[in-house]
Amino acid sequence: MSDAGPIQLAQPEIGAREEELVLEVLRSGRLSLGPMGQRFERELAAWLGAQDAVAVSSGTTALHLGVRALGWGPGDEVLTSPFSFVASANCLLYEGVRPVFCDVDPETLNLDSSAAAAVVGERTRGILPIHIFGFPAAMPELEALAAANGLGILEDACEALGAVDSEGRAVGSRGNLATFAFYANKQMTTGEGGMIVPTGPESAAGLRSARNQGRAADMGWLEHEGLGFNYRLSDLAAALGVAQVEKLDSLLRRRSGVAELYAQGLAEVEGVRAPIAARGSERRSWFVYTVRLDAGIDRDATIARLAERGIASKAYLPCIHLFPHLRELGYREGQFPVAEAASADSLALPFFPAMSESQVGRVCEELAAAIRSGP
Ligand SMILES: Cc1ncc(COP(=O)(O)O)c(C=O)c1O
Repeated sequence: MSDAGPIQLAQPEIGAREEELVLEVLRSGRLSLGPMGQRFERELAAWLGAQDAVAVSSGTTALHLGVRALGWGPGDEVLTSPFSFVASANCLLYEGVRPVFCDVDPETLNLDSSAAAAVVGERTRGILPIHIFGFPAAMPELEALAAANGLGILEDACEALGAVDSEGRAVGSRGNLATFAFYANKQMTTGEGGMIVPTGPESAAGLRSARNQGRAADMGWLEHEGLGFNYRLSDLAAALGVAQVEKLDSLLRRRSGVAELYAQGLAEVEGVRAPIAARGSERRSWFVYTVRLDAGIDRDATIARLAERGIASKAYLPCIHLFPHLRELGYREGQFPVAEAASADSLALPFFPAMSESQVGRVCEELAAAIRSGP
């Protein structure tokens, strides 16, 4: 991509190694449930420092299997954040579980543990924290809340592969069920894909059976031990995953480098607040680069002006509780002011490992110009 041309929001890094491993699968004839799938699971688990990991077809299906593994069902309530991608609430709705939204921390935009503590009730069965935009959620506080009230935890780490929490622990390694996602804009990609990491009491064998139509490992193709799904990941996708895990450290380092360039460039731009990279021992794994605009700046007009100048940007994120299917549960504007304010003034800028210094500089200049040229 030329530095003067359009700049897109995200761009995966696919190279010769991905081609080589995909070709290996094609030539092997084992397109599903073959050795490449197992290799991807082993290599991602090793990278995370986890005992095991179960590959699935998406982050959403990983979350759905997590909800079922924790036994959450109709009549149950689970505490979660309204400032997330819709899948983190939908996975509860699939099982008839009510998402009970709580407001977020103004700095990290993650579930506020005091807000969560305030709404624990008789029907509360669990907590579903999201490590939003790759910043680690307040896991020690949420785990204490869970322990005090006998709650399960399902971590939505779909945006946070590589993040480190306030106790210096890798997100996804704490003894809760954790989920990751590999859509093409994520830190690493398999095109579509996800992983569920059972670091707690839930069994990997149970998750493998559930993703494969309820077939236990020792069962034939037409035998089923219970209700299951086809949430398998193909070996072609797993081949991409193996190649991406091999370069994951470098992908993450380069994302951090681009974020640093942005932090420097945006320091000069009035009216724009850059996201934090770290706080104490917490380290963000850079997923998107989302800035907040000061009051009085029209976010949507800014996005339109950037688009006219060839720069993609996106309102990031709409609050989940205001989507029609959650309004049906009684949710309304004004209930979660911190999340709603972030939702109204945030925008995601182009962000991917191959972004050059001059591209970042151009985005910063154009953003400044777009802000100057209007209310
Ligand atoms: C926070 C969060 N949860 C869940 C998902 C769902 O992942 P997928 O799109 O792979 O189903 C995503 C992906 O965009 C996400 O960002």
